[in-house]
Amino acid sequence: MGVVSSSIRDQEAETLQPEPLPTVPRTELAISARRLRKVFEDKIAVRGLTLDVRRGEVFGFLGPNGAGKSTSVKMLLDLVKPSSGDAEVLGRPIGDLQAKARIGFLPEHFRFYDWLTATELLRLHGRLYDIPPEALRHRVPTMLETVGLSPHSKKQLRHFSKGMLQRIGLAQSLINEPDLLFLDEPTSGLDPVGRRLVRDIIKSERERGATVFLNSHLLSEVEVTCDRVAFIKAGEVIEIRDMNSFAEGRNGIRARVTGISEDVLLGLHAFASSVLCDSELLTMNLNGPELAPRVLRYLVEHGVEVFEFTPVRLSLEDRFLEILGADHGL
Ligand SMILES: Nc1ncnc2c1ncn2[C@@H]1O[C@H](COP(=O)(O)OP(=O)(O)O)[C@@H](O)[C@H]1O
Ligand SMILES: [Mg+2]
Repeated sequence: MGVVSSSIRDQEAETLQPEPLPTVPRTELAISARRLRKVFEDKIAVRGLTLDVRRGEVFGFLGPNGAGKSTSVKMLLDLVKPSSGDAEVLGRPIGDLQAKARIGFLPEHFRFYDWLTATELLRLHGRLYDIPPEALRHRVPTMLETVGLSPHSKKQLRHFSKGMLQRIGLAQSLINEPDLLFLDEPTSGLDPVGRRLVRDIIKSERERGATVFLNSHLLSEVEVTCDRVAFIKAGEVIEIRDMNSFAEGRNGIRARVTGISEDVLLGLHAFASSVLCDSELLTMNLNGPELAPRVLRYLVEHGVEVFEFTPVRLSLEDRFLEILGADHGL
């Protein structure tokens, strides 16, 4: 690690996101990450990931390409060593073998031995998980059936299309009936039928009681499957939201303002779960619609000039586009 990266680390050390309040007992958490950070040479891939994922929830990790989603997951899986910070996965420190045995993972970019047949690949992965051969005899065909590859069970992977490879990748991630399933861009390369399959798999995994951590840059994918979503951009979680909150009433505010200082922006966090200010456009997600008049008074009393102030209903898409588009001030 060079001088550049350590100096970046020093500068950034104090600007990590605030820790969310620990509201859930630790035993009920599938993932608990604290200030997990990864610096590659002079590139900060993940700034300081702090998040809790509850057991049994489907958690969406939503952000544009390059945001740091895959690196975050790889750190949780012990595939990339964090530069700093730590995490517990299934109640164990990162890298714990007992926890790993209970995890399934579909990597974003995978390469399987292409001389293996579909059945052989699943058997191999099953054996790596130490699943007894008798159990595998049933489970492998069941998994192939689940992902619609039964007719191709004896075909070598080198003859598989991209979509078929993605399907066998999915089957591989489920072979140990995981308690925690990481899917990294699972629908890439899949046609609409394949995308539907991923959705169905996530649903049945949730019904089975598994926790699903879904990396995606696709809003629609997250929208239809997840219980909660974290928006990630440039290595930083901008916001974590319950999906239900998007169906609620007019909690959003859009305002056009001038003369807003950093301190006043910071003060707005008392009223809102998120505050974004991009040049003159201020967007907030209020903790309740009744707070709108108080926010307006607060702005005016603090010398901000308000040209427009409109309660709006923020959809997931609105939030996503705002986060992608705006340089978040705070
Ligand atoms: N092994 C690596 N070496 C150097 N830079 C990397 C490496 N892996 C990822 N990065 C960089 O880290 C950033 C985050 O990458 P990644 O976690 O793959 O994002 P995402 O999965 O959200 O698309 C990107 O800028 C990427 O180029
Ligand atoms: Mg990725």
